[in-house]
Amino acid sequence: MSQRRKVTVVGAGNVGATCAQVLATRDYADVVLVDIKEGLPEGKALDIDQMGAVLGYEPNVVGSTSYDATAGSDVVVITAGLPRSPGMSRDDLVTTNENIVGAVTRAAVAESPDAIVVVVTNPLDAMCHVTFDTTQFPRQRVIGMAGILDSARFRTFLAWELGVSVRDVTGFVLGGHGDTMVPLPRYSTVAGIPITELISKERIDAIVDRTRNGGAEIVSFLKTGSAYYAPSAAVVQMVAAIVRDKKRVLPCAAWLEGEYGLSGIYCGVPCKLGRKGLEQILEVKLSAEERTALKKSADAVKETMAAVKL
Ligand code: APR
Repeated sequence: MSQRRKVTVVGAGNVGATCAQVLATRDYADVVLVDIKEGLPEGKALDIDQMGAVLGYEPNVVGSTSYDATAGSDVVVITAGLPRSPGMSRDDLVTTNENIVGAVTRAAVAESPDAIVVVVTNPLDAMCHVTFDTTQFPRQRVIGMAGILDSARFRTFLAWELGVSVRDVTGFVLGGHGDTMVPLPRYSTVAGIPITELISKERIDAIVDRTRNGGAEIVSFLKTGSAYYAPSAAVVQMVAAIVRDKKRVLPCAAWLEGEYGLSGIYCGVPCKLGRKGLEQILEVKLSAEERTALKKSADAVKETMAAVKL
C-alpha cells in the first residue's frame, strides 16, 4: 500500500488554496482541491504543482469542481464559505455558510465515508456541528480548527512582549472561536515558566484582549477578507498529526460529552490527534473565574448554534 496519504481541501479560496500549498510543500500527501467556481481549483492546483519544480516537492495537487477525484481521502478539510468583512462577526456568516458547509460535507463524505473531517469555515463551532450532524460520524472524526490559530496569535503577542523566541512560548486557549474565547495565562508559558511570573496583569489582560480580537484586527486591515496564512498552517498541523499519527496535543474544537462540564456543543479544548482523529480530550482543573469565562464562551457558541437549522 502506498505510504502517501490523500487529503481533500474543499474551497480553493484564500484559506483552502494556501492550505493545499503548504500541504504540497510537505510532500507526504496527494491533495485534491475542490471549489464550486469553474477553473479556480484547476488553475490554483496547477500553479502549486509547478512551484514544486522550484521549491523541490512533487506535483501532486489536483484541482476539480467535482468530487470524483476526492474518493478515498484520509482527511477532508472544509474551508468553503464566505469570509467576513469589516464590521462583521464570525456569527454573521452563519446562515450562508451553514448551507454551503452542509452541501459540501454531504458531497465529500459520499466519496470518502471513512475520512476524518477538519472544519475551518466560520462561525467555526457551529459549522463543526453542521458537519457532525450531516455526517453522523463519531466525534473522533469531526474536528474543528480554531485553537491552534488563537493560540498562535497569543504566542506571537507574548513573544513580542518579552522579546523571546516564539518557539519557547506556549499558549493555552479554551472555548469557542469568537471574542469570548478563553486564553489561560496560568497554563501559558515561556520555556515552562508561567507567563504570570513574567508579565504584569495589566499587560497580560491587554494581550488576551488583542488575541480575542486577533481575527478582527486582520479583517480591519484587509477589508475584503479574513486571515489565511496562519489559519492554513494551523490546518496543516492538524492534518499532519492525523495522517502521520503523531499524537500531538493541540487545541481544537471537539464535540463535548461532559468534558469541562459541557455537553452537546463544539468547543475548543486540548485534543490528542492521531490516526483515529480525536483520540483524547485532556482536561485540567479550572479556577472559578476561568470556569465562568468558559461558561460565557460556551453560551455564545450555543447562541450561534441556535441560529443553525439542523
Ligand atoms: N462548494 C465549494 N466551494 C465553495 C462553495 C461550495 N458550495 N461555496 C463557496 N465555495 C468557495 C468559494 O468559491 C471560494 O473560492 O469557498 C471559497 C472561499 O474562499 P474565500 O472567499 O477566499 O474565503 P477564505 O478566506 O478562504 O475563508 C473561507 O474559512 O476562515 C474561514 O471565515 C473563513 O468561513 C471562511 C472560510
